Amino acid sequence: MSQRTKIKALLQTEDTGFEVTVKGWVRTFRNNQFIALNDGSTNNNLQIVVALDSFDDETLKRITTGAAISVTGEVVPSLGKGQKVEVKAKTLEILGDCDPTTYPIQPKKHSLEFLRDNAHLRFRTNTFGAVFRVRNSLSFAVHQFFQERGFVYLHTPVITASDAEGAGETFRVTTLDPIKPPLTETGEVDFKQDFFGKATNLTVSGQLEGELGAMALSDIYTFGPTFRAENSNTTRHLAEFWMIEPEMAFYNLNDNMDLAEALLKYVIAYALKHNADDIEFLKDRLLEEEKQKPQQDRSELNLLEKLQFCLDNDFERLTYTEAIDILKESNHNKKKKFQYLIEGWGTDLQSEHERYLVEKHFKKPVILTDYPKEIKAFYMRQNDDGKTVRAMDILFPGIGEIVGGSQREERLDKLEQRMNEMGIPTEELWWYLDTRRFGACEHAGFGLGFERLVLFVTGMGNIRDVIPFPRAPKTAEF
Ligand code: 4AD
Ligand code: MG
Repeated sequence: MSQRTKIKALLQTEDTGFEVTVKGWVRTFRNNQFIALNDGSTNNNLQIVVALDSFDDETLKRITTGAAISVTGEVVPSLGKGQKVEVKAKTLEILGDCDPTTYPIQPKKHSLEFLRDNAHLRFRTNTFGAVFRVRNSLSFAVHQFFQERGFVYLHTPVITASDAEGAGETFRVTTLDPIKPPLTETGEVDFKQDFFGKATNLTVSGQLEGELGAMALSDIYTFGPTFRAENSNTTRHLAEFWMIEPEMAFYNLNDNMDLAEALLKYVIAYALKHNADDIEFLKDRLLEEEKQKPQQDRSELNLLEKLQFCLDNDFERLTYTEAIDILKESNHNKKKKFQYLIEGWGTDLQSEHERYLVEKHFKKPVILTDYPKEIKAFYMRQNDDGKTVRAMDILFPGIGEIVGGSQREERLDKLEQRMNEMGIPTEELWWYLDTRRFGACEHAGFGLGFERLVLFVTGMGNIRDVIPFPRAPKTAEF
């Protein structure tokens, strides 16, 4: 193991008078004397003091922003503000030069768009360092939450032959010649000759396989990448995103909501505790960004307050029908301020409606339940009213839908009937239907969009800035 000390650990010590080796990348070099060194372990830089005349000019010239260096020296109390200790350089080695005339990341503020175009280097900025450390913590916290509760982490396939959501927005996986694929007698592409002997695609959700696991292991969760070929160029959609999908036997919708709310609170609390510096930095970044906006568009709470508020309050639970009444009667609707006016019962909510409920009406996270069956997937449990299903969506401030889930239809006849109505092929999903034939029971689950969670916790505004290498329409660089 390398003998170097990570900067995060060093900045936590109060001790001085011992020697360390640190390695990292130069952020700035002031007055030929003070190096701000960052190694990604924390947002805070370590100050390295280079005594005048201790190194030759040739070396000093190579200490440029972005250069990788190794420094050995004594840890001494810092006279400067903001840090307790600094390092007095005894030896300094340039590990990798960085030409300041061509290096894109300068010690100044870059726009997020510019950094998106330079996503291979954006980890080296304060903002993205913080975002990806928070993302890491949230991911770890997700596992910890489920592991503490005895859930089994189940790896569901990335390549499948099903479209779990039945929305037809899948990416095809094939090894057939794209120009001249083999055709059947009737002129269609002959997928029998394809690699898997049938048409396959990248998964849009691991839920259906997750349900198979839950029907034996009781409580499972998946956490993996999912793929959707929806052509939505928004700040909330990716073509490749990570989803957490727990599935629990013997759970009804209320149990499901309780678990989802507990999960969200747990992982947010975890990040607040373990990434205090990063979140503090992101809070200030957001305040700075919001200064550009008109007063009425600024948030009432800063990022820290918003996260804390989420922990301290029960999420508001109400039915879709109740929400439609609120929206229909709202001044916003009456004054035609919605782009899509709420006319009546049955239509899907747009993100503007979700955000109105959360940000203007309830001013806290909201769980909507019992949606019209027409706007939800085939597998949701049908209510006795014949119109609605046991669905739940969790809506978050600034985000809109962050979780989508439901109690599942465990009654074979009802499920088959709904699949037939919706044109979902029952023969192809024979294995899914088998769980309803053999030992079916009440069960439920949900999907948490991981990037939407990271958006919320970091206060970033665009989902492309919370995943290292975003995939979106016309975007697959890096
Ligand atoms: O609501 P969705 O489509 O639900 C499902 O896929 C279910 N199979 C989940 C389940 O019950 N196991 O997606 C779940 C969540 C959404 O609430 C949203 O947070 C996120 O996934 N999501 C996306 N995130 C980023 N980009 C996209 N294109 C997304 N589509 C959905
Ligand atoms: Mg949904």
